[in-house]
Amino acid sequence: MANPITGKTVVVTGGSRGIGLGLVKKFLARDNLVIATSRKSSEATHLHELHKQYPEHLILTDLDTSTTSSITAWAQQIKQQKVTKHVDVLVNNAGVYGRRLNLPHFEDEDFLFAFRSNTMGPFFVIQELLKQELLGGSPEAPGGKTLIANVSSIVGSNTDPTVSAITKGGFPYRASKAALNVISTTLARDLAAQGIEVVALHPGYVKTDMTGGNGWIDVEESTTGLMAVMESEAPLNGRFMSYKGTEIPW
Ligand SMILES: NC(=O)c1ccc[n+]([C@@H]2O[C@H](COP(=O)([O-])OP(=O)(O)OC[C@H]3O[C@@H](n4cnc5c(N)ncnc54)[C@H](OP(=O)(O)O)[C@@H]3O)[C@@H](O)[C@H]2O)c1
Repeated sequence: MANPITGKTVVVTGGSRGIGLGLVKKFLARDNLVIATSRKSSEATHLHELHKQYPEHLILTDLDTSTTSSITAWAQQIKQQKVTKHVDVLVNNAGVYGRRLNLPHFEDEDFLFAFRSNTMGPFFVIQELLKQELLGGSPEAPGGKTLIANVSSIVGSNTDPTVSAITKGGFPYRASKAALNVISTTLARDLAAQGIEVVALHPGYVKTDMTGGNGWIDVEESTTGLMAVMESEAPLNGRFMSYKGTEIPW
């Protein structure tokens, strides 16, 4: 753990379950202030249990990343209610898979559904937090730095040799993650001068609701690996990293 993330402010979108919830637990265990989002925080039972344990360090917020008006309102709330002056780590984790269909059955709405949550959502979360001057160097945090971790997927890689062995089909999901990847590399270049690093992360094939409980690893193994990547001393900006710490080709 060369760069421990502790005593920082961390945002985790989609913190109510699965990999997001696992990351929230890891960040809390390291004494960070964690702003966790879910679509209906009043119904996020796991987060409410955690809040009893960490009342000063866990803030629950409502955010639907598929809706730009929700993202705008959420970012304004963080700023206006002075939840924090600066976000040190932003994990864009919220995501959806969508309908599992065979090739003849996709409709345009399947693509829009995936792109709204998996591609546009992370982009507009970053854009709105930037507008509120909460990321990187800002008047409130001169010299401030932010790590943005976009939770992508290896199936968004066009060249990884193992991908074809993992899944077939899944066109909307794959395309939405590939688009998130190109957004990540572009932002990595565009925002570097503002003290912002952007990395795309592959969490592994993880047993969560998204996979119907199927997977090669559990949330604990995935999030232990993801934390190690985010806390490593290796430069992360503009890279696509697996939870194992290995680089994934675009
Ligand atoms: N599991 C895997 O094998 C795997 C592999 C590669 C990549 N990933 C990626 O890892 C991330 C987490 O996946 P997971 O497996 O933990 O999935 P999950 O168990 O289905 O959890 C998804 C999370 O995203 C949130 N979410 C979904 N749609 C949202 C929206 N429109 N607005 C806000 N939050 C929304 C959910 O919140 P609510 O409680 O509000 O529904 C939930 O917290 C996703 O980006 C996924 O694509 C997963």
